Amino acid sequence: MTDLKSKIDPSRIPSHIAIIMDGNGRWAKERGQERVYGHYEGVVSVREIVNTCGELGVKYLTLYAFSTENWNRPKAEVDALMELLVNTIRKEVDDLKKNNVKLHVIGDFASLPEVCQKEMNEGMEITGENTGLNLVLALSYSSRLEILNASKALASKVAKGELLAENITEEDFKSCLDTCNFPDPELMIRTSGESRISNFLLYQLAYAELYFTPVHWPDFRKDNLFEAVLDYQKRERRFGKTSDQIQKTTV
Ligand code: FPP
Repeated sequence: MTDLKSKIDPSRIPSHIAIIMDGNGRWAKERGQERVYGHYEGVVSVREIVNTCGELGVKYLTLYAFSTENWNRPKAEVDALMELLVNTIRKEVDDLKKNNVKLHVIGDFASLPEVCQKEMNEGMEITGENTGLNLVLALSYSSRLEILNASKALASKVAKGELLAENITEEDFKSCLDTCNFPDPELMIRTSGESRISNFLLYQLAYAELYFTPVHWPDFRKDNLFEAVLDYQKRERRFGKTSDQIQKTTV
C-alpha cells in the first residue's frame, strides 16, 4: 500500500477544510439497508476525518451535517439524524476534549430541537479552552439565509445611524456572518459524485479549491483525505493573478 501521508508537503496543509458529506443514503441503499444506516456509518467517517485533520495540523474543519433543506426529509429520518447528532456529541465530547478539538456550531441554532441545542452548548463549553483543531458543525445551515441575515444586520446598523451605507466594507460584511471567527476554507470536498456547492458557504468558498470524489461519505476515510490534500497541493492558487506572478513570489 502506498504511504500517501508521506507524499504530503507538511508546509502546505490547508488551514481550513470544508466538507459536504454526501451519499450516506445511497451507500445504505446499495447495501439493501435503510438510509439511516448510512448516517450511522457516516459518523465513523466523521471520527476518522476529525482525527486525521488533527494529525495533519489542519486548524479548521467545517462539516455540513444538516442543511435547512434537510428539514424537508421524512420526519423519521430527520428525527434519526437529530438523535444521532446528540448521541454522537454526548459520546465523543470527552475524546474531543482530550484530543484538543474545539467544537463550534454555525447555522440557525434556534431551529434545532432543544435537546440538540443543549448538547451542542455543553460540547462547546467543555471544549472551549482547546487550542488544536476547530471542528465547525454546520447545522440547520443555509448560506443564503446567513447572507440575508448579515444584510439585515448591516441594514439595521445603517437605520440606527451606526454605519453609513457607502462606508460598508467587506470586513463589516464578514463580521456579520456565522463564520466571522474563522478564515475562509482553502479546500472544499464533496463526496458521492455531485459537482455542486449547493447552499454551503457560498461567500466563504470564493477562492477555495473544489475537490469532488465519487466515494460515498461512509467510505471516505483517512487515505481519501490524504488524496484530496495531495490533489490540493498540486493546484496553483492564483487569486486572480497570473501564473508568472505567482511563481515569482514562491521562488
Ligand atoms: C448526506 O447524505 C448526509 C447528511 C444529510 C447527513 C450527514 C450527517 C452525518 C454523517 C452525521 C454527522 C454527525 C456528526 C456528529 C457531524 P444523504 O443522506 O443526502 O445521501 P444521499 O445523497 O445518498 O441520499
